[in-house]
Amino acid sequence: EWTSEAFVETTIADLQAKLGDDKVVLALSGGVDSSVAAILLHKAIGKNLHCIFVDNGLLRKDEYEGVLEQYKHLGLNIKGVDAKERFLSQLAGVTDPELKRKAIGRVFIEVFDDEAHQVQDVKWLAQGTIYPDVIESISVNGPSATIKSHHNVGGLPDFMKLQVVEPLNTLFKDEVRRVGTSLGLEHFIIGRHPFPGPGLAIRILGEVTPEKVAILQEADAIYINNLKEAGLYDKVWQAGAIFLPVQSVGVMGDERTYENAICLRAVESVDGMTADWCHLPYPVLAKISNEIINKVKGINRVVYDISSKPPATIEWE
Ligand code: XMP
Repeated sequence: EWTSEAFVETTIADLQAKLGDDKVVLALSGGVDSSVAAILLHKAIGKNLHCIFVDNGLLRKDEYEGVLEQYKHLGLNIKGVDAKERFLSQLAGVTDPELKRKAIGRVFIEVFDDEAHQVQDVKWLAQGTIYPDVIESISVNGPSATIKSHHNVGGLPDFMKLQVVEPLNTLFKDEVRRVGTSLGLEHFIIGRHPFPGPGLAIRILGEVTPEKVAILQEADAIYINNLKEAGLYDKVWQAGAIFLPVQSVGVMGDERTYENAICLRAVESVDGMTADWCHLPYPVLAKISNEIINKVKGINRVVYDISSKPPATIEWE
């Protein structure tokens, strides 16, 4: 029978045997998988694990600071890199979802490579790849991989001659969570919703601008905080707000407004491959809508997505 305690024990021993005194770099994303991989490696090789956490300017509100603080608190050897401008400048004028993903993936590799080169004699690249990612990348010609290119697997640029270590590549998500819990990771990290690598860029339809990112961050924070306050965050598999570049007419006082809309998305799922929209209670939706429209400048309308996957996808891009 599989237990997280036994997995932790054997994996740490295996990592120590495999890595010895070698240095390892790992890109932390703030998500469950890379966090659990980092803690396991940290337990195995301590300061020889060099973690890099990149702010791509497309994270949720206050996420970069909050997560970096949390990781430092855990004792990780971590470097935060502010690359907001680099990412946002490469997204200017790009409207196609796949081209946005490509631009973000390309800049990420450049930024990460710059940082990895600063770790002298680094031998290994660690990744938080889990079993379903492995399967998905094998079926490269299958529908799921061609509909949207995921960047978590095979992200190793040729010019980095590093060996790859993936301590979680036999585990499913629920097992990763159990391992994280037995490693003492807090609910703040273990319980967080999945968040796509390209971040808010694929939740802003069409061109991404710093102004739209700021608006979406505010609306999304109101949404997520209300889900937490209502005790619903942990019941939902994934939730987030989407910026719709559609203008519609509204009234504010005696003024006519002509502004953008925010869409709220919340889904139930097991693995993201299929998903049902969540029947969030009307009073909660009402409160979120009022708060977003009253507080977020530039938004005069909020809508709720009642589409399941398939045929819709979870993200809008
Ligand atoms: P879709 O939109 O395909 O999303 O139904 C399924 C799950 O995958 C996430 N997702 C991504 N994750 N890079 C990622 O790391 C991506 O480009 C990407 N696109 C979608 C999405 O958030 C959901 O959890």
